[in-house]
Amino acid sequence: MSPVDPGSTGSPSGDLAAGETRGAESATAQWYRHFGTVDAPGNSDCYAAWSVGIAEDPELLRRIDEWPYNKRQPLLMLAAARFLGARISPYPDFRAFLDAHWEDVSRTVLARATQTNEAGRCATLLPSLAQIAADGGRPLALIEVGASAGLALFPDRYGYEYDAGPGLTRLAPAGAAAGTYPVLGCTVTGPVPLPAELPGVVWRAGIDLNPLDVRNPDDVAWLEALIWPEQDFRRERLRRAIAIAQADPPLLVAGDLNDQLSALAARAPSDATLVVFHSAVMAYLDAEARERFRATMARLAVDRGCHWLSNEGHTVVIQADGSSVVPEMDESRLRGRFLLLHNGKPTAITGPHGQSLEWL
Ligand SMILES: C[S@@+](CC[C@H](N)C(=O)[O-])C[C@H]1O[C@@H](n2cnc3c(N)ncnc32)[C@H](O)[C@@H]1O
Repeated sequence: MSPVDPGSTGSPSGDLAAGETRGAESATAQWYRHFGTVDAPGNSDCYAAWSVGIAEDPELLRRIDEWPYNKRQPLLMLAAARFLGARISPYPDFRAFLDAHWEDVSRTVLARATQTNEAGRCATLLPSLAQIAADGGRPLALIEVGASAGLALFPDRYGYEYDAGPGLTRLAPAGAAAGTYPVLGCTVTGPVPLPAELPGVVWRAGIDLNPLDVRNPDDVAWLEALIWPEQDFRRERLRRAIAIAQADPPLLVAGDLNDQLSALAARAPSDATLVVFHSAVMAYLDAEARERFRATMARLAVDRGCHWLSNEGHTVVIQADGSSVVPEMDESRLRGRFLLLHNGKPTAITGPHGQSLEWL
């Protein structure tokens, strides 16, 4: 499985199975070492140090190995500790915090999942959404599958700053006072069709195995804990996006996207152009489930004229038989970035948090 948020669901380095060891280090130790030396540097010095500290701490590794395999992932464990109050600190202090709160850390890890909701990704979806709305001559009805708290369902309520090098294109939601919405910065390259105004959205809905509720303080605290400690700008952006969603909570359906999508699409208003989209979700599905989803999207395209925007990491374009859904795309260009597909066709390479958009 590929990392969906840098490092969030990655498997142990070298893809060792649970319980396997290579050399002196267990799979879990290697997972934390990989996170601490590859994923975290450049994003969080604190997580880098904590993760390497854990990789070299046999007693802690033993406790982590008592959790089910998919609960041992570094980002989940570190977010749980921060959710419970761990602050940026040297590893020995963090270790003392864990000792004092281990039962609660364990309970949080077992109850929660990595559901990072990154409103910034709207910056990479917006040009495609605006183009779809303009071509159809109608406003949009949006469905996000794997929506977490649904923050990406508000692309019309956020501000944007597209930096093309020599020029800056700014877009703001009509009638909203500055400071009341997040401004999503995005570096653009290539012939990105930047819109002159934000597209109209008349209906928005999401599906998630476990929808997070922006009106629930615990869920909001969990969303904040999932942001890496030093990334204050992302936390500020999250808070502003949450405030917008709290004022008008989106319709979120609990369940598997493959089970819920057709019924939810039938509820979308027929006088709007329907767009189904997803970011950082397909890595949670196996190849068969992704195939099933592609078949549903093909049906919705025929029956409903539905558009499909997929914004996902490189491994999720692989099909059940090992072939690629986009054989024309050189995978090496995607490492650490996402591929944006519109109705299955490569459109852009995007920064995983929406920070960049390279139009193809
Ligand atoms: C990393 S989060 C991304 C959230 C959001 N798409 C974003 O870009 O901010 C992945 C989300 O997908 C959800 N998810 C994973 N598998 C799913 C499935 N089979 N059906 C519905 N939701 C799923 C998870 O619960 C989680 O909230």
